[in-house]
Amino acid sequence: MSRPLLLGVDIGTSGTKAVIYTSEGWTVAEATRSYPMEQPQTGWAEQHPTLWWNAVCACLRELTDRSDIDPRDIVSLGLSGQMHGLVLLDADGEPTAPAILWCDTRVLAECDEIEAIFGGELLTSVTGNRALANFTAPKLLWMRRHAPDAVRAAKHLLLPKDYIRFRLTGKYAAEPSDACGTLFYDTRRFCWSEEICRGLHIDASLLPPLVASSDVVGGLTAEAAAATGLPEGLPVVGGAGDNAATAVGVGAVVHGRAFVTIGTSGNVYTHTNSFSSDPDGRFHTFCSAVPGEWVFLGAVQSAGLNLRWFRENCCGSLDADAAALGKDPYLLLDEEADALCPGSDGLFYLPYLLGERTPHLDPHARGCFIGLRPSHGRGAMSRAVMEGVSFALADCLRLFDARGVRVDHITACGGGGRSQLWRQMLADIFACPIAEPSVRESAAFGAALLGAVGVGMYADIPSACRALCGVNSISTPIRGQEYAEVYRVWRQLYPALKDAFAEIDALQNKQ
Ligand code: XUL
Repeated sequence: MSRPLLLGVDIGTSGTKAVIYTSEGWTVAEATRSYPMEQPQTGWAEQHPTLWWNAVCACLRELTDRSDIDPRDIVSLGLSGQMHGLVLLDADGEPTAPAILWCDTRVLAECDEIEAIFGGELLTSVTGNRALANFTAPKLLWMRRHAPDAVRAAKHLLLPKDYIRFRLTGKYAAEPSDACGTLFYDTRRFCWSEEICRGLHIDASLLPPLVASSDVVGGLTAEAAAATGLPEGLPVVGGAGDNAATAVGVGAVVHGRAFVTIGTSGNVYTHTNSFSSDPDGRFHTFCSAVPGEWVFLGAVQSAGLNLRWFRENCCGSLDADAAALGKDPYLLLDEEADALCPGSDGLFYLPYLLGERTPHLDPHARGCFIGLRPSHGRGAMSRAVMEGVSFALADCLRLFDARGVRVDHITACGGGGRSQLWRQMLADIFACPIAEPSVRESAAFGAALLGAVGVGMYADIPSACRALCGVNSISTPIRGQEYAEVYRVWRQLYPALKDAFAEIDALQNKQ
Protein backbone atom coordinates (compact mmCIF):
# COMPACT_ATOMS: atom_id res chain seq x y z
CA MET A 1 0.00 0.00 0.00
CA SER A 2 1.39 3.43 -0.86
CA ARG A 3 2.29 5.73 2.05
CA PRO A 4 3.49 9.32 1.63
CA LEU A 5 7.15 9.68 2.61
CA LEU A 6 9.18 12.84 3.24
CA LEU A 7 12.83 13.24 2.31
CA GLY A 8 15.31 15.60 3.98
CA VAL A 9 18.94 16.04 2.93
CA ASP A 10 21.51 17.92 5.04
CA ILE A 11 24.73 18.92 3.25
CA GLY A 12 27.12 19.38 6.19
CA THR A 13 30.79 20.24 6.43
CA SER A 14 32.01 16.76 7.33
CA GLY A 15 29.39 14.83 5.37
CA THR A 16 25.93 14.61 3.86
CA LYS A 17 22.97 12.87 5.47
CA ALA A 18 19.73 11.91 3.73
CA VAL A 19 16.78 10.72 5.80
CA ILE A 20 13.35 9.41 4.82
CA TYR A 21 10.44 9.99 7.23
CA THR A 22 6.82 8.91 7.32
CA SER A 23 4.25 11.68 7.10
CA GLU A 24 3.85 11.24 10.88
CA GLY A 25 7.53 12.12 11.40
CA TRP A 26 8.94 8.64 12.08
CA THR A 27 12.37 7.88 10.65
CA VAL A 28 12.20 5.15 7.99
CA ALA A 29 15.79 5.02 6.72
CA GLU A 30 18.90 7.14 6.56
CA ALA A 31 22.17 7.22 4.65
CA THR A 32 25.34 9.23 5.20
CA ARG A 33 28.52 9.92 3.26
CA SER A 34 31.53 11.67 4.79
CA TYR A 35 33.99 13.81 2.90
CA PRO A 36 37.18 15.71 3.71
CA MET A 37 37.75 19.43 3.90
CA GLU A 38 40.79 20.64 1.95
CA GLN A 39 43.11 22.95 3.89
CA PRO A 40 45.78 23.86 1.31
CA GLN A 41 47.13 26.64 3.54
CA THR A 42 46.76 27.52 7.24
CA GLY A 43 43.31 28.99 7.83
CA TRP A 44 41.96 27.89 4.44
CA ALA A 45 38.95 25.57 4.17
CA GLU A 46 37.63 24.39 0.80
CA GLN A 47 35.44 21.72 -0.75
CA HIS A 48 34.68 21.16 -4.39
CA PRO A 49 30.90 21.38 -5.01
CA THR A 50 30.97 18.12 -6.99
CA LEU A 51 32.05 16.37 -3.77
CA TRP A 52 28.69 17.34 -2.23
CA TRP A 53 26.79 16.29 -5.34
CA ASN A 54 28.48 12.88 -5.42
CA ALA A 55 27.71 12.40 -1.71
CA VAL A 56 24.05 13.42 -2.21
CA CYS A 57 23.69 10.99 -5.14
CA ALA A 58 25.35 8.15 -3.19
CA CYS A 59 23.06 8.71 -0.17
CA LEU A 60 19.92 8.91 -2.29
CA ARG A 61 20.92 5.86 -4.36
CA GLU A 62 21.45 3.87 -1.17
CA LEU A 63 17.96 4.83 0.04
CA THR A 64 16.15 4.33 -3.27
CA ASP A 65 17.84 0.95 -3.83
CA ARG A 66 16.38 -0.42 -0.58
CA SER A 67 13.78 -3.10 -1.08
CA ASP A 68 11.55 -1.67 1.70
CA ILE A 69 11.28 1.75 0.05
CA ASP A 70 9.29 2.60 -3.07
CA PRO A 71 10.80 5.89 -4.34
CA ARG A 72 7.40 6.76 -5.87
CA ASP A 73 6.04 7.13 -2.30
CA ILE A 74 8.38 10.09 -1.68
CA VAL A 75 6.32 13.26 -2.06
CA SER A 76 8.89 16.01 -1.58
CA LEU A 77 12.55 16.77 -1.03
CA GLY A 78 13.86 19.48 1.33
CA LEU A 79 17.46 20.61 1.74
CA SER A 80 19.49 21.93 4.64
CA GLY A 81 23.15 22.87 4.41
CA GLN A 82 26.28 24.43 5.81
CA MET A 83 25.93 28.19 5.51
CA HIS A 84 28.07 30.94 3.98
CA GLY A 85 30.17 28.88 1.48
CA LEU A 86 30.97 30.61 -1.83
CA VAL A 87 30.03 28.61 -4.95
CA LEU A 88 30.72 30.29 -8.30
CA LEU A 89 29.29 28.79 -11.50
CA ASP A 90 29.90 29.67 -15.15
CA ALA A 91 27.16 30.09 -17.76
CA ASP A 92 26.89 26.28 -18.11
CA GLY A 93 26.52 25.78 -14.36
CA GLU A 94 30.06 24.43 -13.93
CA PRO A 95 31.98 25.50 -10.78
CA THR A 96 34.76 27.94 -11.67
CA ALA A 97 36.69 27.20 -8.44
CA PRO A 98 36.45 25.08 -5.28
CA ALA A 99 33.98 26.49 -2.73
CA ILE A 100 35.47 28.54 0.11
CA LEU A 101 33.74 27.38 3.31
CA TRP A 102 32.22 29.11 6.36
CA CYS A 103 35.19 28.18 8.58
CA ASP A 104 37.87 29.63 6.25
CA THR A 105 39.72 32.56 7.85
CA ARG A 106 41.87 33.83 4.95
CA VAL A 107 39.65 36.86 4.33
CA LEU A 108 40.36 39.05 7.38
CA ALA A 109 41.73 41.91 5.21
CA GLU A 110 38.55 41.81 3.07
CA CYS A 111 36.42 41.98 6.26
CA ASP A 112 38.31 45.15 7.30
CA GLU A 113 37.72 46.53 3.79
CA ILE A 114 33.95 45.93 4.04
CA GLU A 115 33.82 47.48 7.53
CA ALA A 116 35.74 50.52 6.23
CA ILE A 117 33.32 50.99 3.29
CA PHE A 118 30.05 50.73 5.24
CA GLY A 119 30.82 51.08 8.96
CA GLY A 120 29.45 48.72 11.62
CA GLU A 121 26.20 50.60 12.13
CA LEU A 122 25.05 50.34 8.51
CA LEU A 123 26.13 46.71 8.28
CA THR A 124 24.20 45.65 11.39
CA SER A 125 21.12 47.69 10.52
CA VAL A 126 20.94 46.29 6.96
CA THR A 127 22.49 42.81 7.10
CA GLY A 128 21.99 42.16 10.83
CA ASN A 129 25.70 41.39 11.19
CA ARG A 130 29.23 42.79 11.15
CA ALA A 131 31.70 41.68 8.44
CA LEU A 132 33.04 38.35 9.73
CA ALA A 133 35.33 35.95 7.88
CA ASN A 134 32.55 33.32 7.97
CA PHE A 135 30.34 35.24 5.54
CA THR A 136 30.26 34.99 1.74
CA ALA A 137 30.90 38.60 0.64
CA PRO A 138 34.50 38.83 1.91
CA LYS A 139 35.21 35.50 0.17
CA LEU A 140 34.07 36.97 -3.17
CA LEU A 141 36.29 40.04 -2.65
CA TRP A 142 39.22 37.72 -1.88
CA MET A 143 38.57 35.71 -5.06
CA ARG A 144 38.33 38.89 -7.11
CA ARG A 145 41.79 39.85 -5.87
CA HIS A 146 43.50 36.44 -5.91
CA ALA A 147 41.62 34.37 -8.52
CA PRO A 148 40.20 36.99 -10.93
CA ASP A 149 39.71 34.49 -13.79
CA ALA A 150 37.35 32.36 -11.68
CA VAL A 151 35.29 35.46 -10.84
CA ARG A 152 35.30 36.81 -14.43
CA ALA A 153 34.01 33.45 -15.69
CA ALA A 154 31.29 33.30 -13.01
CA LYS A 155 27.67 34.02 -13.97
CA HIS A 156 26.01 32.67 -10.81
CA LEU A 157 26.80 32.79 -7.08
CA LEU A 158 25.18 30.09 -4.97
CA LEU A 159 25.34 28.74 -1.41
CA PRO A 160 26.17 25.04 -0.85
CA LYS A 161 22.66 23.58 -0.53
CA ASP A 162 21.43 25.92 -3.31
CA TYR A 163 24.06 24.39 -5.59
CA ILE A 164 22.62 20.94 -4.82
CA ARG A 165 19.10 22.22 -5.53
CA PHE A 166 20.40 23.55 -8.85
CA ARG A 167 21.85 20.10 -9.68
CA LEU A 168 18.52 18.49 -8.75
CA THR A 169 16.18 20.87 -10.59
CA GLY A 170 18.26 23.00 -12.98
CA LYS A 171 16.90 26.12 -11.20
CA TYR A 172 19.00 28.88 -9.63
CA ALA A 173 17.54 30.12 -6.33
CA ALA A 174 18.33 31.25 -2.80
CA GLU A 175 16.10 31.57 0.28
CA PRO A 176 16.27 34.05 3.19
CA SER A 177 17.61 31.84 6.01
CA ASP A 178 20.83 31.18 4.05
CA ALA A 179 20.96 34.35 1.90
CA CYS A 180 21.16 36.41 5.12
CA GLY A 181 24.56 34.80 5.82
CA THR A 182 26.11 36.21 2.64
CA LEU A 183 26.29 39.87 3.76
CA PHE A 184 24.78 40.77 0.35
CA TYR A 185 21.28 40.45 1.81
CA ASP A 186 19.03 43.03 3.44
CA THR A 187 17.98 40.94 6.42
CA ARG A 188 15.46 43.52 7.63
CA ARG A 189 13.66 43.81 4.27
CA PHE A 190 14.15 40.27 2.89
CA CYS A 191 15.81 41.18 -0.43
CA TRP A 192 19.30 41.44 -1.92
CA SER A 193 20.82 44.74 -0.82
CA GLU A 194 21.49 47.04 -3.77
CA GLU A 195 23.40 49.32 -1.41
CA ILE A 196 25.83 46.61 -0.35
CA CYS A 197 26.31 45.29 -3.91
CA ARG A 198 26.92 48.80 -5.22
CA GLY A 199 29.36 49.64 -2.42
CA LEU A 200 31.33 46.44 -3.09
CA HIS A 201 31.10 46.81 -6.90
CA ILE A 202 29.42 43.43 -7.18
CA ASP A 203 27.32 42.65 -10.24
CA ALA A 204 23.95 41.93 -8.61
CA SER A 205 22.96 39.68 -11.54
CA LEU A 206 25.31 37.06 -10.04
CA LEU A 207 22.81 36.61 -7.20
CA PRO A 208 19.97 34.13 -7.79
CA PRO A 209 16.21 34.79 -7.54
CA LEU A 210 14.80 34.52 -4.02
CA VAL A 211 12.17 31.99 -2.96
CA ALA A 212 10.69 31.05 0.43
CA SER A 213 12.04 28.04 2.35
CA SER A 214 8.87 26.03 1.74
CA ASP A 215 8.31 27.14 -1.87
CA VAL A 216 8.57 24.40 -4.48
CA VAL A 217 11.45 25.64 -6.64
CA GLY A 218 11.16 22.96 -9.30
CA GLY A 219 10.83 19.28 -10.08
CA LEU A 220 13.66 16.76 -10.29
CA THR A 221 15.19 16.71 -13.78
CA ALA A 222 15.41 13.46 -15.77
CA GLU A 223 19.19 13.56 -15.32
CA ALA A 224 18.95 13.98 -11.53
CA ALA A 225 16.29 11.25 -11.38
CA ALA A 226 18.67 8.87 -13.15
CA ALA A 227 21.52 9.82 -10.78
CA THR A 228 19.52 9.43 -7.57
CA GLY A 229 16.83 6.83 -8.26
CA LEU A 230 14.13 9.34 -7.26
CA PRO A 231 11.13 10.00 -9.54
CA GLU A 232 11.48 12.66 -12.23
CA GLY A 233 9.45 15.76 -11.33
CA LEU A 234 9.71 15.19 -7.53
CA PRO A 235 9.04 18.64 -5.95
CA VAL A 236 12.15 20.21 -4.38
CA VAL A 237 11.65 23.12 -1.95
CA GLY A 238 13.87 26.05 -1.04
CA GLY A 239 15.04 24.49 2.23
CA ALA A 240 17.08 26.34 4.86
CA GLY A 241 20.55 26.95 6.28
CA ASP A 242 21.56 24.30 8.82
CA ASN A 243 20.57 26.28 11.92
CA ALA A 244 17.24 27.45 10.52
CA ALA A 245 16.48 23.88 9.37
CA THR A 246 17.33 22.55 12.85
CA ALA A 247 14.94 25.14 14.29
CA VAL A 248 12.15 23.74 12.09
CA GLY A 249 13.15 20.18 13.08
CA VAL A 250 12.74 20.97 16.79
CA GLY A 251 9.81 23.38 16.43
CA ALA A 252 11.73 26.58 17.38
CA VAL A 253 9.67 28.61 14.91
CA VAL A 254 7.66 30.94 17.14
CA HIS A 255 8.79 33.94 19.21
CA GLY A 256 10.64 32.87 22.36
CA ARG A 257 11.27 29.28 21.28
CA ALA A 258 14.95 28.36 21.16
CA PHE A 259 17.46 25.57 20.81
CA VAL A 260 21.01 25.07 21.99
CA THR A 261 23.51 22.83 20.26
CA ILE A 262 26.38 21.28 22.17
CA GLY A 263 28.47 19.81 19.38
CA THR A 264 32.18 20.48 18.91
CA SER A 265 31.13 24.14 18.94
CA GLY A 266 27.95 25.49 20.49
CA ASN A 267 25.00 27.55 19.31
CA VAL A 268 22.15 29.30 21.01
CA TYR A 269 19.37 30.06 18.53
CA THR A 270 16.19 31.98 19.33
CA HIS A 271 13.26 32.74 17.07
CA THR A 272 11.96 36.34 17.14
CA ASN A 273 9.18 38.15 15.32
CA SER A 274 10.85 41.55 15.34
CA PHE A 275 14.10 42.66 13.69
CA SER A 276 16.87 43.78 15.99
CA SER A 277 20.63 43.46 15.77
CA ASP A 278 23.64 43.98 18.01
CA PRO A 279 25.65 47.04 16.87
CA ASP A 280 28.81 45.33 18.14
CA GLY A 281 28.01 42.17 16.16
CA ARG A 282 28.36 39.92 19.23
CA PHE A 283 25.56 37.69 17.97
CA HIS A 284 24.08 37.17 14.51
CA THR A 285 20.67 38.30 13.36
CA PHE A 286 19.55 35.96 10.59
CA CYS A 287 16.24 35.18 8.84
CA SER A 288 14.09 32.28 9.95
CA ALA A 289 12.70 29.71 7.52
CA VAL A 290 9.31 31.15 8.56
CA PRO A 291 8.61 33.99 6.10
CA GLY A 292 8.94 37.50 7.55
CA GLU A 293 10.57 36.43 10.84
CA TRP A 294 14.08 36.41 12.28
CA VAL A 295 16.42 34.64 14.65
CA PHE A 296 19.28 35.51 16.96
CA LEU A 297 22.24 33.17 16.84
CA GLY A 298 24.93 33.15 19.51
CA ALA A 299 28.06 31.22 18.53
CA VAL A 300 30.21 29.56 21.20
CA GLN A 301 33.51 28.55 19.58
CA SER A 302 34.13 25.43 21.68
CA ALA A 303 31.41 23.56 23.56
CA GLY A 304 31.61 19.74 23.51
CA LEU A 305 35.21 20.15 22.37
CA ASN A 306 36.09 21.04 25.97
CA LEU A 307 34.81 17.76 27.35
CA ARG A 308 36.48 15.82 24.55
CA TRP A 309 39.77 17.61 25.24
CA PHE A 310 39.38 16.89 28.97
CA ARG A 311 38.60 13.24 28.34
CA GLU A 312 41.52 12.78 25.95
CA ASN A 313 44.13 14.68 27.95
CA CYS A 314 43.25 14.69 31.64
CA CYS A 315 41.36 11.50 32.41
CA GLY A 316 44.11 8.91 32.83
CA SER A 317 42.39 5.57 33.27
CA LEU A 318 38.86 6.67 32.29
CA ASP A 319 38.61 4.50 29.17
CA ALA A 320 39.90 1.43 31.05
CA ASP A 321 37.59 2.15 34.01
CA ALA A 322 34.61 2.53 31.66
CA ALA A 323 35.51 -0.65 29.76
CA ALA A 324 35.77 -2.57 33.05
CA LEU A 325 32.26 -1.40 33.95
CA GLY A 326 30.95 -1.98 30.40
CA LYS A 327 30.00 1.70 30.12
CA ASP A 328 30.48 4.50 27.63
CA PRO A 329 33.33 6.75 28.98
CA TYR A 330 31.15 9.87 28.69
CA LEU A 331 28.40 8.18 30.71
CA LEU A 332 30.94 7.34 33.44
CA LEU A 333 32.13 10.98 33.41
CA ASP A 334 28.48 12.08 33.74
CA GLU A 335 27.98 9.78 36.73
CA GLU A 336 31.13 11.03 38.46
CA ALA A 337 30.17 14.65 37.79
CA ASP A 338 26.61 14.03 39.00
CA ALA A 339 27.95 13.08 42.45
CA LEU A 340 28.91 16.74 43.02
CA CYS A 341 26.74 19.79 43.72
CA PRO A 342 26.34 22.91 41.55
CA GLY A 343 29.64 24.83 41.62
CA SER A 344 31.82 21.67 41.39
CA ASP A 345 33.17 22.02 44.93
CA GLY A 346 34.61 25.48 44.25
CA LEU A 347 36.12 24.65 40.86
CA PHE A 348 35.48 26.88 37.83
CA TYR A 349 36.29 26.44 34.15
CA LEU A 350 36.47 28.90 31.25
CA PRO A 351 35.74 27.02 28.00
CA TYR A 352 37.57 29.30 25.56
CA LEU A 353 39.87 26.69 24.01
CA LEU A 354 39.52 28.39 20.60
CA GLY A 355 38.99 31.96 21.79
CA GLU A 356 35.35 33.12 21.87
CA ARG A 357 32.79 34.57 19.41
CA THR A 358 29.60 35.38 21.42
CA PRO A 359 29.75 37.46 23.56
CA HIS A 360 33.42 38.41 23.88
CA LEU A 361 34.60 38.42 20.21
CA ASP A 362 38.06 37.66 21.60
CA PRO A 363 40.43 35.30 19.73
CA HIS A 364 42.93 35.54 22.63
CA ALA A 365 40.57 34.09 25.27
CA ARG A 366 41.76 30.71 26.58
CA GLY A 367 40.48 27.71 28.46
CA CYS A 368 41.38 27.39 32.16
CA PHE A 369 40.49 25.75 35.46
CA ILE A 370 40.28 28.24 38.31
CA GLY A 371 40.08 27.30 41.98
CA LEU A 372 41.88 23.93 42.00
CA ARG A 373 42.42 22.15 45.33
CA PRO A 374 44.11 18.78 45.94
CA SER A 375 40.65 17.30 46.63
CA HIS A 376 39.46 17.95 43.06
CA GLY A 377 39.39 14.84 40.93
CA ARG A 378 37.89 13.71 37.63
CA GLY A 379 34.31 14.23 38.81
CA ALA A 380 34.79 17.85 39.95
CA MET A 381 36.81 18.69 36.85
CA SER A 382 34.36 17.20 34.36
CA ARG A 383 31.45 18.89 36.15
CA ALA A 384 33.31 22.22 36.10
CA VAL A 385 33.88 21.78 32.33
CA MET A 386 30.18 21.11 31.71
CA GLU A 387 29.18 24.04 33.91
CA GLY A 388 31.68 26.34 32.17
CA VAL A 389 30.24 25.45 28.75
CA SER A 390 26.68 25.92 30.05
CA PHE A 391 27.56 29.36 31.47
CA ALA A 392 29.10 30.35 28.11
CA LEU A 393 25.81 29.37 26.44
CA ALA A 394 23.90 31.32 29.12
CA ASP A 395 25.98 34.39 28.20
CA CYS A 396 24.37 34.25 24.72
CA LEU A 397 20.88 34.16 26.22
CA ARG A 398 21.68 37.21 28.37
CA LEU A 399 22.43 39.18 25.19
CA PHE A 400 19.13 38.10 23.61
CA ASP A 401 17.33 39.02 26.81
CA ALA A 402 18.89 42.50 26.69
CA ARG A 403 17.38 42.83 23.16
CA GLY A 404 13.94 42.07 24.58
CA VAL A 405 13.70 38.44 23.48
CA ARG A 406 12.87 36.28 26.47
CA VAL A 407 13.17 32.57 25.84
CA ASP A 408 10.54 30.29 27.36
CA HIS A 409 11.31 26.87 25.87
CA ILE A 410 14.64 25.42 24.73
CA THR A 411 15.49 22.17 22.97
CA ALA A 412 18.96 20.68 23.48
CA CYS A 413 20.65 19.28 20.35
CA GLY A 414 24.07 17.83 19.50
CA GLY A 415 26.09 15.17 21.32
CA GLY A 416 26.15 17.12 24.62
CA GLY A 417 22.37 17.54 24.46
CA ARG A 418 22.02 13.76 24.80
CA SER A 419 23.44 13.87 28.35
CA GLN A 420 20.64 13.96 30.93
CA LEU A 421 22.99 15.67 33.42
CA TRP A 422 23.91 18.38 30.92
CA ARG A 423 20.24 19.03 30.04
CA GLN A 424 19.38 19.37 33.75
CA MET A 425 22.30 21.76 34.21
CA LEU A 426 21.06 23.89 31.28
CA ALA A 427 17.53 23.92 32.73
CA ASP A 428 18.87 25.07 36.13
CA ILE A 429 21.25 27.70 34.70
CA PHE A 430 18.87 29.05 32.05
CA ALA A 431 15.91 28.87 34.48
CA CYS A 432 13.92 27.38 31.60
CA PRO A 433 12.60 23.90 30.67
CA ILE A 434 14.97 21.99 28.38
CA ALA A 435 13.50 19.47 25.94
CA GLU A 436 15.20 16.46 24.43
CA PRO A 437 13.94 16.12 20.82
CA SER A 438 12.45 12.85 19.62
CA VAL A 439 14.34 13.09 16.29
CA ARG A 440 18.14 13.27 16.43
CA GLU A 441 18.99 14.53 12.95
CA SER A 442 17.06 17.76 13.45
CA ALA A 443 18.42 19.60 10.38
CA ALA A 444 17.44 16.85 7.91
CA PHE A 445 14.08 16.51 9.70
CA GLY A 446 13.50 20.27 9.44
CA ALA A 447 14.34 20.12 5.72
CA ALA A 448 11.83 17.29 5.26
CA LEU A 449 9.15 19.30 7.09
CA LEU A 450 9.73 22.24 4.74
CA GLY A 451 9.05 19.81 1.87
CA ALA A 452 5.80 18.68 3.55
CA VAL A 453 4.65 22.31 3.75
CA GLY A 454 5.72 22.90 0.15
CA VAL A 455 3.45 20.18 -1.21
CA GLY A 456 0.50 21.37 0.86
CA MET A 457 0.44 18.70 3.60
CA TYR A 458 0.48 21.58 6.12
CA ALA A 459 -0.74 25.18 5.81
CA ASP A 460 2.49 26.65 7.15
CA ILE A 461 5.74 25.80 8.96
CA PRO A 462 4.48 26.29 12.56
CA SER A 463 1.52 23.97 11.81
CA ALA A 464 3.87 21.27 10.50
CA CYS A 465 6.07 21.65 13.60
CA ARG A 466 3.10 21.48 15.95
CA ALA A 467 1.99 18.24 14.27
CA LEU A 468 5.36 16.50 13.90
CA CYS A 469 8.02 17.79 16.36
CA GLY A 470 7.96 15.57 19.43
CA VAL A 471 10.01 15.49 22.61
CA ASN A 472 11.39 12.49 24.48
CA SER A 473 11.77 14.23 27.83
CA ILE A 474 11.72 17.65 29.48
CA SER A 475 14.09 18.74 32.26
CA THR A 476 12.65 21.47 34.48
CA PRO A 477 14.71 23.82 36.69
CA ILE A 478 15.43 22.47 40.18
CA ARG A 479 18.62 24.13 41.43
CA GLY A 480 18.35 27.54 39.78
CA GLN A 481 19.09 29.52 42.95
CA GLU A 482 22.35 27.68 43.63
CA TYR A 483 23.47 28.15 40.04
CA ALA A 484 22.63 31.87 40.03
CA GLU A 485 25.29 32.35 42.73
CA VAL A 486 27.88 30.24 40.89
CA TYR A 487 27.19 31.98 37.56
CA ARG A 488 27.63 35.40 39.22
CA VAL A 489 31.14 34.42 40.35
CA TRP A 490 31.98 32.70 37.02
CA ARG A 491 31.12 35.90 35.13
CA GLN A 492 33.86 37.79 36.99
CA LEU A 493 36.59 35.47 35.72
CA TYR A 494 36.87 36.38 32.00
CA PRO A 495 37.05 40.18 32.61
CA ALA A 496 39.72 39.56 35.28
CA LEU A 497 41.81 37.50 32.85
CA LYS A 498 41.12 39.26 29.54
CA ASP A 499 44.30 41.36 29.44
CA ALA A 500 46.43 38.46 30.62
CA PHE A 501 45.05 36.29 27.78
CA ALA A 502 46.23 38.83 25.19
CA GLU A 503 49.65 38.95 26.85
CA ILE A 504 49.89 35.16 26.95
CA ASP A 505 49.26 35.11 23.17
CA ALA A 506 51.94 37.75 22.59
CA LEU A 507 54.35 35.80 24.77
CA GLN A 508 53.61 32.54 22.97
CA ASN A 509 54.10 34.16 19.57
CA LYS A 510 57.58 35.27 20.66
CA GLN A 511 58.60 31.76 21.80
C1 XUL B 1 26.53 29.93 11.26
C2 XUL B 1 27.55 28.91 10.88
C3 XUL B 1 27.14 27.49 10.85
C4 XUL B 1 27.67 26.83 9.59
C5 XUL B 1 28.30 25.50 9.89
O1 XUL B 1 27.05 31.24 11.20
O2 XUL B 1 28.68 29.24 10.61
O3 XUL B 1 25.80 27.32 10.97
O4 XUL B 1 26.66 26.66 8.67
O5 XUL B 1 27.46 24.58 10.37
